[in-house]
Amino acid sequence: MDMTKPESLKPPPRVTTRSLAKMRRDGQSISMLTAYDYPTAEILDRAGIDILLVGDSLAMVVQGHDTTLPVTMDQLIYHAEMVGRAAKRAMVVVDLPFPEGQLEIMRTVACGARVLKETKCHAVKLEGGAEQAGRIETMVTAGIPVMAHVGLRPQNVHVEGGYRVKREIKTLVNDAVAAENAGAFAVLVECVSTEVGQAINDAVNVPTIGIGAGGATTGQVLVTNDLIGLTSGYSPKFVRKMADVSTTIYEAAIQYRDAIADNTFPGDAESF
Ligand code: KIV
Repeated sequence: MDMTKPESLKPPPRVTTRSLAKMRRDGQSISMLTAYDYPTAEILDRAGIDILLVGDSLAMVVQGHDTTLPVTMDQLIYHAEMVGRAAKRAMVVVDLPFPEGQLEIMRTVACGARVLKETKCHAVKLEGGAEQAGRIETMVTAGIPVMAHVGLRPQNVHVEGGYRVKREIKTLVNDAVAAENAGAFAVLVECVSTEVGQAINDAVNVPTIGIGAGGATTGQVLVTNDLIGLTSGYSPKFVRKMADVSTTIYEAAIQYRDAIADNTFPGDAESF
């Protein structure tokens, strides 16, 4: 124990696979949000969000693509470095992008190892359930914690022919159980009926983190840009927008433009 620092200067204890398991056992809810850059991650960490996800949603909400498919491992590592540096308490999970989690198994392990070696992040997220059991087991054996992602799998968008709410209860529960048995420390459940969310939560002992999966999961995750209103266009039903950052930025830009136009910026206060 470090006795040299006053209590207030000590970093808060890190959220870990072990503390998340305890949260589930103790009936505590887990909060998770996406983060792609240092300042946002610093704010979310300070706000006490338990898990930060450097999600492949970065392709859509930061890079402006239509799907999550184009983002690369190198790009995720670049963003993971920033988020990893900012998070003092939260666990940081990094998505394995398409198709790194589908190719030859040792390539997936190498990508997971890059996350732990090149960034200060702590775990990876891998889309898939039962068919990914071997891959999850190999990763965990190699020392790479894995959060499985079942239900709607955005990397499968073209196979599925779009995004839809998943209701195949037996298959989805089987996916979550297979992921847990393979060693996943948590299961993210996306866009399933409330009944399926409940059934998955009842079937596994590890924490379940829902997005559009009803209220029965151990925790909830949202894309931060959706939460804070920093996206334009379609917003899924499961999003609750809790701020309007787009409007704030827009209004600040208008004020700035007008202040330049009418020569009130810079004023004496901003000049040397
Ligand atoms: O990439 C992402 O943002 C996700 C969501 C399900 C949170 O995986």
